[in-house]
Amino acid sequence: MRCAERQPLAMCCWMEPSSDEVMDAVQAGLCDTFQRDFLCCRRIGSLPWKDLEHQLSIRPSFVLRILEQTINHPVSQKYPPSSQYRRLFLSELIKKHERTGAEPLDDIYTAFAEVLNSEDNTLCYKSYCLPTGDPVTLAENVAIISEGTTGLVTWEAALFLAEWAIENNGLFNNRTILELGSGIGLTGLVICRSCSPRRYTFSDSHQKVLQQLKENVLLNGFVLSEELSDTSKTPTTVVSVTELDWESVTEQELVALDADLVIASDVVYDPDILASFSKVVKKLFCCTKAGNKLEVIVASTIRNPETYSLFQTTLDDCGLSWQVLPDHKNNIFAYDKNCTVQILKLTFKV
Ligand SMILES: C[S@@+](CC[C@H](N)C(=O)[O-])C[C@H]1O[C@@H](n2cnc3c(N)ncnc32)[C@H](O)[C@@H]1O
Repeated sequence: MRCAERQPLAMCCWMEPSSDEVMDAVQAGLCDTFQRDFLCCRRIGSLPWKDLEHQLSIRPSFVLRILEQTINHPVSQKYPPSSQYRRLFLSELIKKHERTGAEPLDDIYTAFAEVLNSEDNTLCYKSYCLPTGDPVTLAENVAIISEGTTGLVTWEAALFLAEWAIENNGLFNNRTILELGSGIGLTGLVICRSCSPRRYTFSDSHQKVLQQLKENVLLNGFVLSEELSDTSKTPTTVVSVTELDWESVTEQELVALDADLVIASDVVYDPDILASFSKVVKKLFCCTKAGNKLEVIVASTIRNPETYSLFQTTLDDCGLSWQVLPDHKNNIFAYDKNCTVQILKLTFKV
């Protein structure tokens, strides 16, 4: 089951494309955007409804193609977005189609009736399409904060870091990576799929998050290292999920993980956790085998400049310096691009 692959519009160099060919290409592009946005539940208002309205005014039946690529797509059928999201999406789609004045289409109303009858759940699926067309699917909570944690949803910095990793693939290839505060796993799953690390350890401190994280790792076809038997073929990437609390993790535990690359996304949001996070990073530099060769990459959404500046002061106090890394160029995932995300590379001042 794949999402649409991103492909450049192939144009013949000696013949102008006909207007039908141009329209087909525009509609294929629009289907692709709707599919990617829908599968990861991008905010309904951010979908390209105006472009769709324009295409429907030319060809009202185009709505059926959108329906096939979204609600009826095999990924959505197996791993559906939340009922509430599907309801909102279909209401908007029906409104746009009704505006064309064309005959109502049974397929859309049947889909709507099914969604109206489906139960609301605290968990939903979101599928993020990779450039290859393969989806990374996560079970996420519908609420931003639940069970007393922010870790049960995917945050923008996770998507930003995942895009950055795809573009800087070489940094992750064949490395032993430790992710701190993984949440439900988007960044790591994208890296494991796209960058072939040797070993990837997801970590978090919250029990519910760890449980959901494990389920998401399995959902995406990975086998946890503890499940590998002596006779199993060694996978390209050995994946594990571990409980790691920045407050209490010991040097021995960090040494055992043997990481040579440490990453984290959206861990700079609460002034109270900055000190423990910075101390873990310092410990990793001081006690692990990789030592000064260790690379540490942290992606943060800058929501509150004061908190961010406090993070930098805290790093300083721990003897850590930072360098802002250049942003990546290609947008792959659908998320709010208005938020400011910055990637820092941390080093230990000897
Ligand atoms: C805002 S969420 C970010 C999750 C994920 N990295 C993302 O960007 O989508 C912060 C994560 O840090 C974890 N966290 C907070 N304090 C922690 C601590 N002391 N030790 C380990 N993880 C912690 C939370 O459980 C949560 O999963």
